[in-house]
Amino acid sequence: MKNNLVYRLYGRTKGRKKKSNNLFSKIKLKKIDKEIDYIIDIGAGYGESTIQIAQANNDKIVICCEKYVDGLSSLFSKAQTLSINNIEIYQGNVHQLLDEHFKKDSIFEIWILFPDPWPKKRHFKRRLINKLFFDKMHKYLKKGSTINIATDSKSYTSQILETIYNVKQDFKWTNQSKSNWDYNSEILPETKYYKKALKNGLNPFFAKLEKL
Ligand SMILES: C[S@@+](CC[C@H](N)C(=O)[O-])C[C@H]1O[C@@H](n2cnc3c(N)ncnc32)[C@H](O)[C@@H]1O
Repeated sequence: MKNNLVYRLYGRTKGRKKKSNNLFSKIKLKKIDKEIDYIIDIGAGYGESTIQIAQANNDKIVICCEKYVDGLSSLFSKAQTLSINNIEIYQGNVHQLLDEHFKKDSIFEIWILFPDPWPKKRHFKRRLINKLFFDKMHKYLKKGSTINIATDSKSYTSQILETIYNVKQDFKWTNQSKSNWDYNSEILPETKYYKKALKNGLNPFFAKLEKL
């Protein structure tokens, strides 16, 4: 019961219209192998980022951590079509994935692209990125490993900036100068929410941090 409360996830698990299947369970997370480098794509939605990261890192395993069934089905069929075999799926909350499957200093890289912004002030506490989560990522990442974060929400950007300041002893912010904050889609994944941001005339913020 206690864990159900701790690992609660807000938002949708299934779309309203589409019928999804659970074929994606064929590539569900296997036992963690300490010889393998793992990259975690948190809240990957339809998995465009997972595909791109997996293609660029074919010597590593990319774990897509997401609960949204339609997104996971879509990721599974794209990976099949493109014969990508270094993706594993964890259907659930990233807090649980980290706490129950990883050891200290073991993860190679983390991606968090366009996390749910929860724009209402009373919902800010639902946001994933805060000091507690940075502390957790710090525990599980290897030294020198990176975290990649993007958001198109102004208030979330402020919260992220404040958090980066509060963890400056633990992480080096590699694109600290404001001129490097733009989301460069020539090198970064064009996800559904990235495209949505552009359509709405927003200029997403991107931050890359390295564990000290
Ligand atoms: C706004 S969507 C962004 C999807 C995708 N990254 C993109 O850029 O299109 C945020 C996703 O994060 C997932 N999510 C939210 N909290 C999560 C958590 N604690 N662990 C794993 N996934 C989470 C949600 O299910 C949702 O699909």
